[in-house]
Amino acid sequence: MSRPLPDGPAPSPLTDRFGRVHTDLRVSLTDRCNLRCTYCMPAEGLDWLPRPELLTDDEVVRLVDVATRRLGITEVRLTGGEPLLRRGLPGLVARLHALPDPPELSLTTNGIGLARSAAALRDAGLSRVNVSLDTLRPERFTAITRRDRLPDVLAGLRAARTAGLAPVKINTVPVRGVNDDEIGELAAFAVEHGYRARFIESMPLDAQGAWDRDRMVTAEEILGRLGERFDLIPAGRRDNAPAEEWRIAGTDTVVGVIASVTRPFCGGCDRVRLTADGHLRNCLFATEESDLRALLRGGAEDTEIEAAWRNCIAGKGPGHAIDSPEFRRPDRPMSAIGG
Ligand code: 5AD
Ligand code: SF4
Repeated sequence: MSRPLPDGPAPSPLTDRFGRVHTDLRVSLTDRCNLRCTYCMPAEGLDWLPRPELLTDDEVVRLVDVATRRLGITEVRLTGGEPLLRRGLPGLVARLHALPDPPELSLTTNGIGLARSAAALRDAGLSRVNVSLDTLRPERFTAITRRDRLPDVLAGLRAARTAGLAPVKINTVPVRGVNDDEIGELAAFAVEHGYRARFIESMPLDAQGAWDRDRMVTAEEILGRLGERFDLIPAGRRDNAPAEEWRIAGTDTVVGVIASVTRPFCGGCDRVRLTADGHLRNCLFATEESDLRALLRGGAEDTEIEAAWRNCIAGKGPGHAIDSPEFRRPDRPMSAIGG
């Protein structure tokens, strides 16, 4: 994307040694969550980061400013844990939207509290939301998330659509024997209500280390289930998006499948992640991080932050190799990295 003068020339792209250009930044705003999805964390939750370790709003704004003005980041997704648990989120969104080179802003949420905040977030400059939803059955929702909150999530989805946070995407992680029989129903729900459905292969990123390849539902199986119920018209993959998409014939509904394990898309990866405590990760599965918070709190200039960021991306590996015997799980679980 070209940058308007007088802010100076377009920044040189954030490129790694494989030529991948990074334009998409995911910012985790908290590692806490109000659900306890079984494929993500244990019932008792985790040892949450102490507050002083989290980046402040000022620090998040500073890093996103550097990323957009100097590093060519054009999209920022706010994640968690559960980002709606961050106090004053609409205020932070408004500050990011008001930056000299504002990124496109999106949010990944479990939907709880979205009914209350969707309109304020849209007014603040948020463009889109992804809402996690693994089942439409209340008892099953409670079994998966260990909380009885399905009505809140459904209300959040409706509020997001009403607020015009389009498209509203539903993220589902199918797990064998748990909710894999609901793939068609979830897609039908998306058709009925005007959402997009996305099905994600489960990845070995749970805090408990309980991931089991045999319980992962593969993209091929997901497509098989969808194909039993709908005619699917291939819609390809947009840019470097991880989802391969299909349109459901006779509808405007697009369904996506994210085959992180069986069809990795690492070769097109354009993402970089900032943890809630200010550490930069060049991959979900990275085993090293760059401590940007230490730089910020040590009084670093923008040029130093830029250099640390470029250095982190320069060290990015070719891919995650989940299926290889040498695969090492990252030290942090998904809830502490941001999806
Ligand atoms: N594998 C795949 N997806 C996951 N998510 C959370 N944990 C995992 C996992 N281990 C999903 C959530 C949410 C998104 C951020 O990632 O359901 O939709
Ligand atoms: Fe919370 Fe998301 Fe983990 Fe569920 S998957 S416990 S909603 S962070």
